Amino acid sequence: MFYINSSLSFPQKRMRRNRSDVWVRDLVQENRLSVKDLILPLFVVEGHAVKEPVKSMPGVFRYSPDLLIEEIKKAEDLGIPAVALFPVIETEKKSSDGKEAYNPNNLLCNTLIKIKKEISNIGIITDVALDPYTTHGHDGIIRDEKINNDETLEALKKQALVQVKAGADIIAPSDMMDGRIGIIRKALDDHKKQETLILSYAAKYASSFYGPFRDAVQSGAMLKGDKKTYQMDSANANEALYEVALDIQEGADMVMIKPGMPYLDIITIVKQNFKVPTFAYQVSGEYAMLYAASENGWLDFQTTLMETMICFKRAGADAIFTYAAMDLAKWLSE
Ligand code: PBG
Repeated sequence: MFYINSSLSFPQKRMRRNRSDVWVRDLVQENRLSVKDLILPLFVVEGHAVKEPVKSMPGVFRYSPDLLIEEIKKAEDLGIPAVALFPVIETEKKSSDGKEAYNPNNLLCNTLIKIKKEISNIGIITDVALDPYTTHGHDGIIRDEKINNDETLEALKKQALVQVKAGADIIAPSDMMDGRIGIIRKALDDHKKQETLILSYAAKYASSFYGPFRDAVQSGAMLKGDKKTYQMDSANANEALYEVALDIQEGADMVMIKPGMPYLDIITIVKQNFKVPTFAYQVSGEYAMLYAASENGWLDFQTTLMETMICFKRAGADAIFTYAAMDLAKWLSE
């Protein structure tokens, strides 16, 4: 704690001295943002030469695999360490059990194989969850009108295995089923994939900020009800610590807090309690808010975005998923 005696207070002490010029502000700056802190989420869609705008996320597109590879190359050239892939699944390939998720020839796996032939210096993160593949938009399999945890685990295990075989470097389960990290870790190890990393979406909240993402992967209109029986209640913080503890114990190499900006307190307590690599996801709704306000001339996109990033760092995040990673990387290099 601070001990402030009279010799430490005004007028002897003036806090503004350390803010008086750029060079001194640089010297006393406590946190810094680097391009090495950024992870770019990307949407992939079937086809060739396709670049479809996501309406609710200006500047974000769904790319067919050929153009996606070009985007990944740009990210690599800018020094971004990793990208996270999210597939847009055609309606006729969706089913109630989401079995397309573990088809070794699905869009994501075929794309991974192509990426790995051309690109080697950037980490590829894949999402493990059934929602892009289910007709009901849920991350789990429904039995008797409920999301069945243990039946879903079997599907997630198979999904993780096809992704790793196709070349994923980091498996990122975002489904919030209980026990999935342990089951996936064991499956990977049994298949001699002990080098594959697991980034667990450990504290993922049932959030309305995911709206534009569900628009991007076209799962929103299909979603029946909400995800509150598996994603966390926004009111809870202690529960996040328990979730993180379990996932670390089950073998997660890194943990994620999601959404980002409204959950900075969770990032801080997780980092302080566990000291493990802790990532944050600035989700689609956060991006959409910033973009919409800047389109209206109400906020400056660049400075506001940069501010949100340094706030993530200050809160304790080691890396940040952000749809603006490419813009940020360019600004950081200027
Ligand atoms: C799917 C998934 C979601 C996001 C990432 N993976 C949506 C959801 O849980 O409904 C959201 C990302 C974003 O909003 O940017 N399991």
